[in-house]
Amino acid sequence: MKIKSIRRANNLAGKIVFLRADLNVPIKNRTVLDDYKIVMILPTIRFLLRHNCRLIIATHLSDSRASTKPVAKRLAQLLDKKVRLVNGCVGDKVEKAVKKMAAKDILLLENLRLEPGEVKNNNKLAKSLAALANLYVNDAFASSHRNHASVSAIKKYLSSFAGLLLEKEILNLEKVLRPKQPLISIIGGAKIETKIVLLNSLAKKSHRVLIGGALANNFIAAHGFKIGESLVDKASLRAAASLIKRHKNIILPVDVLVAGDFKSNQVQVRAVNQVQQKDIILDIGPKTVNLFAHFIRQANTIVWNGPMGYFENIHFKHGTLSVARLVAARSTGQAFGAVGGGETVEALDMTKMGHYIDWVSTGGGAMLAFLGGEEMPGLRGLVK
Ligand code: 3PG
Repeated sequence: MKIKSIRRANNLAGKIVFLRADLNVPIKNRTVLDDYKIVMILPTIRFLLRHNCRLIIATHLSDSRASTKPVAKRLAQLLDKKVRLVNGCVGDKVEKAVKKMAAKDILLLENLRLEPGEVKNNNKLAKSLAALANLYVNDAFASSHRNHASVSAIKKYLSSFAGLLLEKEILNLEKVLRPKQPLISIIGGAKIETKIVLLNSLAKKSHRVLIGGALANNFIAAHGFKIGESLVDKASLRAAASLIKRHKNIILPVDVLVAGDFKSNQVQVRAVNQVQQKDIILDIGPKTVNLFAHFIRQANTIVWNGPMGYFENIHFKHGTLSVARLVAARSTGQAFGAVGGGETVEALDMTKMGHYIDWVSTGGGAMLAFLGGEEMPGLRGLVK
């Protein structure tokens, strides 16, 4: 893939750069709980500062009422440098703040989702954002599947480049698209409707696709087995049935952990064809972990997105944590391992083995879209 990288931009010196980052991090009590996305953007910021640029950094937070103030604070700590926060994204206040900037100054805008035009990919908003700067850099891989003004329409109004993180995401995830075989894909979590295209495309290139989490319930039900009271998306059962019919390399759990409710500590192991009417499937079982381990140990490339069960409850975390450990152990120089998705990375962190993984993507939905071969509005014009 060809990437229009910021490293290839001419005359960067002294420019005002609009840097679209994805600093959509978990925040509680005005404190950033996980700064991975902020840490990962630092090389791009440092690169632009070395060229004496003035930096306007913009991000969204999924909670449209949340402020980027805690992000500004954490970014300033990590850079050991002042990060000015302006109370808005466009308008007089912002324009004045930009005018006052000197070389190497950093200004962080407020949450882009405060502007209703952002999610509507509104041209007027995109034009106003673009008017603040001389150059646009998209380093928000994790938002690039969104057709939003600050990642999509804005590129019409400014000379645009890919940031260093975006570049790294593409180069690493490309290794999954063109894998060293055998490729083992592990997909869990819920929301099957967002994963059908991906599963189809991964099944075509993978040696095996291992399925766990609530996602597996749809396949188990499509196979004709009972799933009791488990989470299922009835509208997607036909798609699940068609996937397992077409792709014999899709591997489903052979046993599961069940309980009567999500908070229960009364856990039972059931063969996948023995689930009772009142059961809720909340994790993969020990035989499934063994089966998955057998395939993961054969891999030369591994991609993993989505937990294997309801790992928030201590009784149902074993499947997910076992897979995390297996993927991390195999990734240590034997296979190329790529992992992504908020909950998946959270589980990986619990094992303290995250550093063994070759690429921990900042993207959740974006990683799935990229691997599924979807056209991503944020990459249009930047990646071929
Ligand atoms: C993410 O966290 O996956 C990205 O920041 C996208 O966030 P969104 O789902 O709110 O668009």
